[in-house]
Amino acid sequence: MNLQMSDRLGPDSVSTVDSTLRVNGVDYDVTLDSRVTLLDALRDHLGLTGTKKGCDQGTCGACTVLVDGKRIVSCLALAAQCDGRDVTTVEGVSAADGRLHPVQEAFVRCDSFQCGYCTSGQIMSAIALLSEEGRVDTDEDIREYMSGNICRCGAYPNIVAAIREVAESEGGNANL
Ligand code: FES
Ligand code: FES
Repeated sequence: MNLQMSDRLGPDSVSTVDSTLRVNGVDYDVTLDSRVTLLDALRDHLGLTGTKKGCDQGTCGACTVLVDGKRIVSCLALAAQCDGRDVTTVEGVSAADGRLHPVQEAFVRCDSFQCGYCTSGQIMSAIALLSEEGRVDTDEDIREYMSGNICRCGAYPNIVAAIREVAESEGGNANL
């Protein structure tokens, strides 16, 4: 990472950072304003618009992605913080042959969305949850550990059903 900062600090001064973002297995070399969030880098600079912007304040979960396998809200992370780390977005979870991820298939089967705006965040959060050992024993667990992902359409019962289905089919380990 190479930080370049204008000598004159003022309202128009901009510092840029060179980073390599590894997103869904592809390296992107970018030079961005140091204040650019991972969410805006994904959507506005890499064209990966599957990750949604809801609140832009860390409270809705629509922007959830995985960084080194852990779920984060990408609106609260700076792109520069992700230099050299593995970022996975909803565009990167299906198989190479185009087959949907088991969680995506379960969301379709269980009708786990209405408008769909929260869905990519729900799916990324669910994928991470299913890899977090011992967290999916009951529906109450699923609700608790998915509570950072808001659905304004109220599709919660069907979201819980989809996650439960994958957890049960994989013996609690969705191999994700
Ligand atoms: Fe990031 Fe709402 S857009 S948490
Ligand atoms: Fe509309 Fe969740 S499906 S916000």
